[in-house]
Amino acid sequence: MSSSGTPKRYGVVGHPIAQSRSPFIHQTFGRQAAIDLTYEKILAPLDGFAQTVHEFFGQGGAGLNITVPFKEQAFELARAHLSERARLAGAVNTLWMRDGRLHGCNTDGVGLLTDLERLGHGPKGKSVLLVGAGGAAKGVVLPLMDAGCARLRVVNRTAARAHGLRAHAVEQLPALADRLGAGGLDEAGGQWDIVINATSGSLHDTPPELPPGLYAQGALAYDMVYAAAPTAFLRQARDQGAAHAADGLGMLVGQAAAAFRIWHGLMPDVQPVLEALRRELHYT
Ligand code: ATR
Repeated sequence: MSSSGTPKRYGVVGHPIAQSRSPFIHQTFGRQAAIDLTYEKILAPLDGFAQTVHEFFGQGGAGLNITVPFKEQAFELARAHLSERARLAGAVNTLWMRDGRLHGCNTDGVGLLTDLERLGHGPKGKSVLLVGAGGAAKGVVLPLMDAGCARLRVVNRTAARAHGLRAHAVEQLPALADRLGAGGLDEAGGQWDIVINATSGSLHDTPPELPPGLYAQGALAYDMVYAAAPTAFLRQARDQGAAHAADGLGMLVGQAAAAFRIWHGLMPDVQPVLEALRRELHYT
């Protein structure tokens, strides 16, 4: 509760936005912590993102989450006050105002990492294959390397994009060069402990065309997309012998929890929220 007794105002900006689960997640976290807040979905026009953000904060808003397709624009808006995570990702999903200045962070990577830990597949010392080289992949390369994976290879349908992603990461942190590889889908290799799908293929029920033999014993297949039923990538992974499979619902809740911590200084309990969302997914 703010000093005036009015709940602080938060929201998520995207286009489209109707599908967002963020209001439910943040309102539930708020109840857990007895913090009175409002959290709304805000549809920004495709050519009106900056104005939407300025109006929100101009009217006393406290914090915003940013989703597709505005994360790069949010990065530009907060350019003067970025966290290291945001700077390395080149994208921002969390904004807040402090001392009259707009600050930005990216919690997508930490959301993935906390979910992998929750699943008992923390990446430290592991061999990790990241499939895809778009916006979703870009935000998690450096957090995965930072978490101490033994090697990471980025493969993509368009190989040049994977090489570009690698080059960008190595430019920022040259020490990564030996542990970070890149290539086309046919260069995916094998014996991976964790294979992460960051392509948008699952949104269209299409798995990436990956060669067989990817999965090491006891390996985890992880799809950043979530759905009521196993995604095309997770079905393919089961057929190819992955011992464990998980979708990205936990990453969604994890990135929200990290944003909540930035705004409110408290780490919420993700498990009950994750369970409620999973139940809801099955019934809608
Ligand atoms: P996002 O921000 O969700 O990552 P994006 O930047 O458009 O969206 O990237 C989509 C990613 O999914 C890309 O890696 C894309 O591969 P290309 O770079 O070759 O286009 C990948 N992708 C989409 N559909 C795919 C499919 N059917 N098979 C394999 N990769 C696919």
